[in-house]
Amino acid sequence: MALYAMGDFHLSFSVDKPMDVFGRVWKNHEKKIEKYCRKRIHPEDTFVITGDHSWGKNLAECEKDLAFIEALPGRKILLRGNHDMFWDAKKTSVLNERFAGRLEFLQNNFYTYKDYALVGTKGYCYEGKDSIEHFLKIRERETERLRISLEMAAGAGYQKYIMFLHYPPTTIGEQESPFTEMAEAYGVSKVIYSHCHGRDRYDDSLKGYVNGIEYRLVSGDYLNFRPELILE
Ligand SMILES: [Fe+2]
Ligand SMILES: [Fe+2]
Repeated sequence: MALYAMGDFHLSFSVDKPMDVFGRVWKNHEKKIEKYCRKRIHPEDTFVITGDHSWGKNLAECEKDLAFIEALPGRKILLRGNHDMFWDAKKTSVLNERFAGRLEFLQNNFYTYKDYALVGTKGYCYEGKDSIEHFLKIRERETERLRISLEMAAGAGYQKYIMFLHYPPTTIGEQESPFTEMAEAYGVSKVIYSHCHGRDRYDDSLKGYVNGIEYRLVSGDYLNFRPELILE
């Protein structure tokens, strides 16, 4: 029994969005995902997939991509990425009902692995694309969503947490953020994130141990699409 994580599959079985223009690592990346997941992950394992699942703009355009994810081994828990247009954060329960027994959607709730609570939300960091006001508003909203997830887990009696974010926990050059502060306040063991693509972005945020918390980047291209073992 093991816990794995990986994100940023950026699947496009229904829409025309070839990914190999982003470099060799993306050539036939869906074949690599399938191959390495089948090699490493067993049916009794848990696999958290940290967002940017599909290029589809709605559920119909994502159907084949989600079916591909569903067919991967293990229990699949999905996190929301910035490209996941099919997923309205306020309607996560609708997705959880629709995919019951097949896929689980982590938003304003929590899941468990052994005695750990798996908490998370999309998160946010500043990438120079929006106004500071907009950035702060989105980050505040995401911080609250993370707090809800942590509070639900704490309320259920969990004392050990693994936090999943789609965005890196900090903006480039920062050592702390509301997300790292919350991780420290709740005694989170590990913070797992993705979103960073390409060599130039892999060091955008924290990696390794900082203030006793382990930070790990699990974006697909960073891992060459090999799911990362988080816990045994
Ligand atoms: Fe991505
Ligand atoms: Fe992303």
